[in-house]
Amino acid sequence: MSTPLAPPAGELRIVDDVPRAFAAVVREEASPAARARFSLVLSGGSTARQCYEELATTSGIDWERIEVLIGDERCVRSDDSDANQLLIRTSLLDKVGPVGAFHPMDCADPGGYASIVRARAPLGLVHLGLGPDGHTASLFPGSAAIDAPPGALVVSNRDPYENNPHDRLTFTFEAIALARLAVFTVSGPDKHAALHRLLTGEAIPAARVRAGRVLWLCDRAAVGSDIDAIAAP
Ligand code: 6PG
Repeated sequence: MSTPLAPPAGELRIVDDVPRAFAAVVREEASPAARARFSLVLSGGSTARQCYEELATTSGIDWERIEVLIGDERCVRSDDSDANQLLIRTSLLDKVGPVGAFHPMDCADPGGYASIVRARAPLGLVHLGLGPDGHTASLFPGSAAIDAPPGALVVSNRDPYENNPHDRLTFTFEAIALARLAVFTVSGPDKHAALHRLLTGEAIPAARVRAGRVLWLCDRAAVGSDIDAIAAP
């Protein structure tokens, strides 16, 4: 007998176009009517790049009110093609003009970044991806950051199984929980297995994310044929 599917913490929304849905959520959350200052925490990966390219073309966002932070980083040079800060600059910041502030991560100073995060709590929106192994941010299965001590918001980490390259700096679950809204973007058939594990209640890292609200934006390719079971009221 197969395991019954249950939605993850928060809301699961099946959308045709994940980057477009993501951009619409950011625009709504960051609208001036909603809040004077807005902290937007971004991530890395190919889905993130598509989301930020879409966001850069989205009208109605007052970027000068928005402070951009990063939820995890690879410990490489800032101009390395694997650096999340380079991804964020080229896909978004270089296109939208001045933002309120941009806070790239410095792998040598997790405490300094934790102070930046703490001073901005509650965070407006934290963007997260889902790795094929169930990781989110740089919270890898079996890694030390999964069980970071209480109070730690930003820690160094590494994938013990070496599926994901580079030393990392990452938000902890506690830091993500400072968000009013955490948004996962999950796109494509490569994500189906990890999403299925999440929906069947496996304790993958992404399943431990909590925030004021958690929103999962998933396309049909990622959800696969489980769609009917999940969407059933
Ligand atoms: C990163 C991440 C990571 C990412 C997932 C999904 O820096 O790579 O923040 O958690 O979001 O691995 O990435 P893809 O969308 O590229 O599969």
